[in-house]
Amino acid sequence: MLLSLTVAAAIAETVTAMTLERHVGSHKPLEYWKKGARAPAGALHEVIVRAVPLASRGELEALLLERSIPGSARFREWMSTEEVKRVGGASELGATERWLKLGVGARTKATKHGEYVRAIAPVAAWEGVFACEFYAWHHHEEKKTVLRCDGDYSIESGAPAEAVFGVSDLPPRVWGGPRRRDKTNKTLDNIVTPSVINSFYEISSNAGSSKVYQGVFETSGMDFSGSDLSDFQSLFDLPSDKVDTDYGGHESDIECEIDADECDEGNLDVQYMMAVSQLTPMTYYYTDASSPFVAFALYAADLDTQPFVGSISWGSIESEMTDEVLEAFDVELVKATLAGSTFFVSSGDDGVANFAAYSKADCGYVPSYPATSPYVVAVGATYASSYDDPGVGEVVCESDVDDAIITSGGGFSTYYAQPNFTLAAISDYFDQVAPVSGYNASGRAYPDLALSGYDYLVVIGGAEYYVSGTSCSSPTVAAMASLVNAVRVEAGASGLGYVLPSIYAQNGSFTNDITSGSNNCVAEDEFCCDQGFDAATGWDPVTGWGSVDYAKFEAVFTSDLDPLEVARAKSRLNVDAVRPLRAAAQKQ
Ligand SMILES: *[C@@H]1O[C@H](CO)[C@@H](O)[C@H](O)[C@H]1NC(C)=O
Ligand SMILES: *[C@@H]1O[C@H](CO)[C@@H](O)[C@H](O)[C@H]1NC(C)=O
Ligand SMILES: *[C@@H]1O[C@H](CO)[C@@H](O)[C@H](O)[C@H]1NC(C)=O
Ligand SMILES: *[C@@H]1O[C@H](CO)[C@@H](O)[C@H](O)[C@H]1NC(C)=O
Repeated sequence: MLLSLTVAAAIAETVTAMTLERHVGSHKPLEYWKKGARAPAGALHEVIVRAVPLASRGELEALLLERSIPGSARFREWMSTEEVKRVGGASELGATERWLKLGVGARTKATKHGEYVRAIAPVAAWEGVFACEFYAWHHHEEKKTVLRCDGDYSIESGAPAEAVFGVSDLPPRVWGGPRRRDKTNKTLDNIVTPSVINSFYEISSNAGSSKVYQGVFETSGMDFSGSDLSDFQSLFDLPSDKVDTDYGGHESDIECEIDADECDEGNLDVQYMMAVSQLTPMTYYYTDASSPFVAFALYAADLDTQPFVGSISWGSIESEMTDEVLEAFDVELVKATLAGSTFFVSSGDDGVANFAAYSKADCGYVPSYPATSPYVVAVGATYASSYDDPGVGEVVCESDVDDAIITSGGGFSTYYAQPNFTLAAISDYFDQVAPVSGYNASGRAYPDLALSGYDYLVVIGGAEYYVSGTSCSSPTVAAMASLVNAVRVEAGASGLGYVLPSIYAQNGSFTNDITSGSNNCVAEDEFCCDQGFDAATGWDPVTGWGSVDYAKFEAVFTSDLDPLEVARAKSRLNVDAVRPLRAAAQKQ
């Protein structure tokens, strides 16, 4: 402790070494965490330290909007990572990393521009730095224990740390994973497969490109299996392809054989994203960080493999997030979108009440995060009893109708204000359905789009399952955006980047409007709330603008380009896509 104070003071040059005066904060009272024993002094613990002042979200957002509002001067001119670094704040000096290494004795890893440092050190070292006692906290719903300070903490005066994560903030609950069934009891012939998605949503080519990038976010022990992916590709005659980047090391055939629960989300995400958008380099991003969405945003902001399309089929309860976490996520995600990334997030499977509702007594309007972030595209779920007629017959996926298993999440944020470009759509909705009390009708409304979320055929541990959820919808819509990126980049243009303003500017011209259904019931039809939203003409807080008609989506989102260039680009992508198949066939 003495050493750390000395180094910190030396770096700051101004402070008296022994004062611990900068009060920082305490944790939110989240009743599902129970305090246990004192943490062992030698236990290793990770703290994330922000080294630079938080960049102004307002200023970054202004830069983003002048690149993403249709008709603006710099429309779709995304920045290089160097430009993002200039506007986003960077720590050139490395003072924070030096302090953590030499003063605290931590193992460290900084983000590319030094804004954040992840540091692992023994509990005893952290107790000295933050003047607090660490305890084990046990989650009584999930089998999980974390180490955190009890109550308030301070950062020693002069320490080069603007904010810290993992000191006293108890992690929010995280939801993920679709509902899974085996193949018994199927009465209707409405299974979703890659070819059903192609025919129903008008995708004529799945040719992606090695010049664009795509990936999925995972946490909470979720694995994927390379051998299941390969079986899935053989089952549906898809080109054989592998995940390129297994970030965090969570590929495991064995785990998927032992426990399908550990693999359903991971396998669903890679199998469908790679089936719909083929041959595009695929990343499986995994983190165990206690602020998993912040960890992902830090990773995304460092990516210079652009344009990147990411999908997150995980969610938390928005009100359980601390302001520090929301601010950090927002700023880093805006930096990533400024560089040309696009993010999709599933809207939740339990309607308005969200996953934390266990009985009717828990009903209410409970927004899902990060679906509510204005920097992502939130995706809800639809249901169809038949996929015979492209784009016809979809309703809200709601668990009380036709055994549809899950209910599309949607509603209004209590943290984020409505972006201006969404105001007209929401006001059209409230012309049809009068607002009631219980939610903030001026909050950012979600979802923005929707897609089938019921009975996708997925291979897990060598067996075929049907899985349902907005977990199906998000990676599939993300894959469609990735296909559009492939066409745009092949035609010499920039990728979609921050696409939300362009989506709202279209008034639903590329979507199948979903006008029937509501989201009062939680998944599995365990109970239905009095609260809920109804689908309506145009945008609604259950299915957004509706499900994506890919042919129209691609046409609209390439309409700024020379049609001849687009046609040539598509034909080149298609030739590139069949080349490996021909080569493989010739070898045999
Ligand atoms: C199959 O259907 C029967 C009757 O509806 C039901 O009791 C049973 O639980 C179902 N089995 C599965 C695996 O869903
Ligand atoms: C509703 O949301 C708006 C926009 O975020 C905010 O300005 C207002 O204070 C909120 N109202 C209430 C009652 O929380
Ligand atoms: C958009 O909304 C913000 C408040 O969130 C306001 O300051 C700004 O003037 C609005 N811009 C336009 C173009 O309406
Ligand atoms: C969407 O509606 C707005 C307001 O009615 C209009 O100004 C705009 O041109 C419409 N956009 C499209 C693509 O139809």
